[in-house]
Amino acid sequence: MSGSGDIDGWVGRSVPRKDGVAKVTGQARYVDDITMPHMLYGVTVRSSVPRGRIKAIHYSDKIPWEQFTIVTAANIPGENVIYLLMGDQPCLASRVINHSQEPIVLLAHSDKNLLEAARGGVTIEVEPEPGVFSIEDSLEQKEIVWGSDNILKQYHMNKGDVDSVWPSADFVVEGEYRTGAQEQLYIENNGMIATASPAEGVTVWGSMQCPYYVQKALMRLFALPAEKVRVVAAVTGGGFGGKEEYPSMIAGHAALLAWKSGRPVKMIYDRAEDMAATTKRHPSRTRHRTAVSRDGKLLGMDIEFTLDGGAYATLSAVVLSRGTIHAAGPYRCPNVRVHARAVATNYPPHGAFRGFGAPQSIFALERHLNKVAAVVGLPPEELRRRNFLHQGDLTSTGQEVREPVDLEGLLDRAFSATDYRAKVQSFARSNIGSRIKRGIGFATFMHGAGFTGSGEEYLASIVGVEATADGGAKILVAATEMGQGSSTTLAQIAADALGISFDRVTVAEQDTANVPNSGPTVASRTCMVVGKLVETAALALKAKVAEAGIAGDFSTASAAYIKIHGPLRHFAKYAAPPGIHWDDQSYQGDAYGAYAWAVYVAEVAVDTLTYEASVTDFVALQEVGRVIHPRVAAGQIEGGVAQGIGYALYENVQWKDGRMANNQMTNYIMPTAADVPPIRVLFAETPYAYGPGGAKGIGELPIDGPAPAIANALENALGVPFDEIPATPEKIMTAVRGAR
Ligand code: MOS
Repeated sequence: MSGSGDIDGWVGRSVPRKDGVAKVTGQARYVDDITMPHMLYGVTVRSSVPRGRIKAIHYSDKIPWEQFTIVTAANIPGENVIYLLMGDQPCLASRVINHSQEPIVLLAHSDKNLLEAARGGVTIEVEPEPGVFSIEDSLEQKEIVWGSDNILKQYHMNKGDVDSVWPSADFVVEGEYRTGAQEQLYIENNGMIATASPAEGVTVWGSMQCPYYVQKALMRLFALPAEKVRVVAAVTGGGFGGKEEYPSMIAGHAALLAWKSGRPVKMIYDRAEDMAATTKRHPSRTRHRTAVSRDGKLLGMDIEFTLDGGAYATLSAVVLSRGTIHAAGPYRCPNVRVHARAVATNYPPHGAFRGFGAPQSIFALERHLNKVAAVVGLPPEELRRRNFLHQGDLTSTGQEVREPVDLEGLLDRAFSATDYRAKVQSFARSNIGSRIKRGIGFATFMHGAGFTGSGEEYLASIVGVEATADGGAKILVAATEMGQGSSTTLAQIAADALGISFDRVTVAEQDTANVPNSGPTVASRTCMVVGKLVETAALALKAKVAEAGIAGDFSTASAAYIKIHGPLRHFAKYAAPPGIHWDDQSYQGDAYGAYAWAVYVAEVAVDTLTYEASVTDFVALQEVGRVIHPRVAAGQIEGGVAQGIGYALYENVQWKDGRMANNQMTNYIMPTAADVPPIRVLFAETPYAYGPGGAKGIGELPIDGPAPAIANALENALGVPFDEIPATPEKIMTAVRGAR
């Protein structure tokens, strides 16, 4: 139907990327490449304390303030809020400070070199208050820093009756697991340009994942209707979730300065400000209590999952939801309870980052299952084998697995690619008396694609495909290309559906004045959900041309159609696959349209003199329905694994008085090419009926598996458990010495 089965189809081929030439020739225009006549530059004055009350704002008399545009909360035309899920986060703090990077004053000037001195010339006089800086202190309500109880959001997920199983269990295994904050470290920092006036409304251009989120936030901030707020995504240099929510903040700031000055205003964060002020991955604490039978069957899983949300709600509720739904993994267990909470602290708000809560809960589970296996006396793979989900089984949310899933087969294939069993034996021998200890470990997991539960129905995404006068087609979506390859894969899907050449398909700029709301560029949804809508719209467009009875292929006929009848386009709106039901109250039902399934295997070497660990081999095997573009898909996986290696071993946010102390790339250690082994990416394909050409989502999947696989490999190498990441040399030293 989509043509993807044809030998001549575009889907399944590594065609040249749509964004490739412009990027390698330097022609692509990122927001900082754009200038406008009479443009000013803007900067932000932030709080210096993590919690307190603003007493006064002092302006040094050494600065010629009359040359500057100065904006405070008093200058906001609408509501002082960056609206997302709730309106708790101000655009500019006016009375209360809840974290160390709270924006308070905005300054603009035509000479950006004068702005730093001016920023230093503003002093915020604050009456400090004690802050809360850990999950424990927040839960214990040392201080109430949000709402009445510090709980940003909580869920109670219940399947079966976990309390009925403890007496009959042969073993009850408990464990606690922790993960740290992680910076997205997209190559391009956050940035925005705005023009604004009461007559014209607000227009912003910038680096972002979600043009319609930015539009929604600006409408509230300026009290303007949608038609007066235009948001255009510039070429975007990476996002990973870090450009899901914060762009609304910068857009608001740039637009407020533009509104007051009457001039275009550009705001670009430098790396230090971007790392200190914008969102990071939520730190987590997960507690497991598991009932298991003598033969290794999971009888009950009681999971307490807690995220540090930082100072405001932002997307924590949704991140928590995704972590909750993935907390019990791809395993069959009749009784599962998850109590999930996101708690407030006085750190800058944590937010979206690839995986969205799942990397945290999956790390805990895949570490915990190794512990369970050891207690039962089974190899970790055998314990998992005895509990893998199969077609017809129910997940922890009670969702029936409708598609065939073969985790045993994936495990076998990943083990044979790595020679896993032989390595377990040979490392055990060669480690004796050796300074370098080697280990191998793995994780088995799944990741849902698209918005959770009823989320996609609520989004009700719309996608357009338009025939162009030259016989080609243009895709109209709000999904932004940030390097992940969406403009290429969506064009492949459209080309096959229309039966035209990939070269004749273009993707329109993501401009809210010109493209429909196809939803945010998040949640592994672009290829599967938006791509399916592109396919649907393209097929309908083709049918419309066919019905007109004009002879020739789509290109000839559509060009003729346009000459006779004028513009030719079709919009497709999301409809849930049949039989999908979700209950928000019990947190039971079909959490996702589809899951992708994976087995990741890591090999590590640890130097027992320096306690440095490195990953020496990595195999990533995943079942993703259908691979649309082998090179792009492999790139997604390789990048996710590299990010996961950083998460597991290196990336360590140092907090000092509620602020990130190591907010530079010189002291926030991320993996470089020297730290990343060859990553062997393997795919399995079982086409998914409701994905374009059979494809499911893969964007987030690869960040779930590396950390637990690596921690399991560290345990295999050293014989001590690693239940907290990042496993820095200091932590490895402590663990090894503590065990002696
Ligand atoms: Mo996101 S973490 O871009 O779903």
